[in-house]
Amino acid sequence: MTSLRITGGVPLSGQVTVRGAKNLVPKAMVAALLGSTPSTLGNVPEIKDVEVVTDLLALHGVEVNRDDALGNLTLDPTNVTRARHSDIDAHAGDSRIPILLCGPLLHALGEAFIPDLGGCRIGDRPINYHLEVLRNFGAKVEKLESGIRMSAPHGLQGAKMDLPYPSVGATEQVLLTATRAEGHTELRGAATEPEIMDLIAILQKMGALITVQTDRVIRIEGVPELTGYVHSALPDRMEAASWGSAALATGGDIFVAGAKQADMMTFLNTFRKVGGGLDIREDGIRFYHPGGDLNPLIVETDVHPGFMTDWQQPLVVVLTQAKGVSIVHETVYENRFGFTRALNRMGAVIQVHRECLGSVPCRFGQRNFLHSAVISGPTPLRAADIHIPDLRGGFSHLIAALSAEGVSQVTGVELIKRGYEHFTDKLSGLGANFVVDEA
Ligand code: EPU
Repeated sequence: MTSLRITGGVPLSGQVTVRGAKNLVPKAMVAALLGSTPSTLGNVPEIKDVEVVTDLLALHGVEVNRDDALGNLTLDPTNVTRARHSDIDAHAGDSRIPILLCGPLLHALGEAFIPDLGGCRIGDRPINYHLEVLRNFGAKVEKLESGIRMSAPHGLQGAKMDLPYPSVGATEQVLLTATRAEGHTELRGAATEPEIMDLIAILQKMGALITVQTDRVIRIEGVPELTGYVHSALPDRMEAASWGSAALATGGDIFVAGAKQADMMTFLNTFRKVGGGLDIREDGIRFYHPGGDLNPLIVETDVHPGFMTDWQQPLVVVLTQAKGVSIVHETVYENRFGFTRALNRMGAVIQVHRECLGSVPCRFGQRNFLHSAVISGPTPLRAADIHIPDLRGGFSHLIAALSAEGVSQVTGVELIKRGYEHFTDKLSGLGANFVVDEA
């Protein structure tokens, strides 16, 4: 169990580098399973989620090798084999990746298994869209005590489908399954996040035929064989935005090398409106506090190209320092404001409401979900003892502790390693004042 003892009040300043996106790299690793030859994935960060997928692929006979100097992974799927359900369960831990292994494993072996899934506890996180998608392709879904078993006794066939909500994972499920299914697939209501576009680019390199049309329609013509790919993962726009918010909340100045403007334009607009300074360059983005008051904002999270749900939590810490009342309406997950309780203990004034406090009523209105937050600022933050609840909420707690006067003890920081590469080294490089306690 690792905890950090953070002495706050030091503006973070300096440079950090972001590498491949946590929300693309594991899916790109899964795509390698579809190839008949090895793949090479570059710009791979050293994060826990990559380790988990490496273990899961290894259990299925995929040889994964890492070249640390280059940050490259080679993935050789030529000896794919069945894995024991208990081993999958033991290695999946808190990852939701087993659900995305289903399509490629059904193609390769005719069967797949999903243990009870974890991931960050930010709502129910059901898998009904995924199961429906797989059934549409002709998969047989069987509930067992230990999880869900899938089989495809007659292979998988393309189909027409329409997602009730533009789910990132369910869109990836369709892509990873349809590319080698027999015939054509039409997906309506698809998610179009940059990570999905990067996955499509990878699949195209492998030989897939995918067309992205307007109005969230994706068409895929199945092909009988795909080969391996060579690809460099797009940079992590969630991590980049997190460091941006950390710069602003602590009154600092951080150059995020590798941050890509095109993938985070909505965040950059919001950052500028709240009063943050930006210097957008080809090789990265500088985020800084230009002095003076920060402005309150009204923000609604949404699917791409809207304001991402994963940008929300670090921004809320910034908004506690803005002069006036801000509103954040979370429309992607129903339960993503639990982290505000710790901020209130630190002196923030944040109220959460069941009503949709935004311009568009969302799926969670009138359903007892505390999914709108009203933040009154500026309120100086004071140190507190905090246990990290989930990845993004946890990073926002770190930012709050780094901004607060006094010494905060932050436990459960392992969770941060799921998505933030070498974050303690990066914090040290930015001048943060903290001590790591290994219990
Ligand atoms: N949903 C369902 N049924 C399903 C699938 C999703 O109701 O079968 C609902 C979810 O409960 C949620 C909404 O649909 O309310 C959107 O979920 P989505 O499927 O888009 O999310 P995901 O694929 O599980 C990925 C990222 C999340 C990110 C979301 C939205 C990964 C590994 N995770 O999750 O990232 O917030 O898309 O962009 O790619 C994070 O990085 O901390 C994180 C949680």
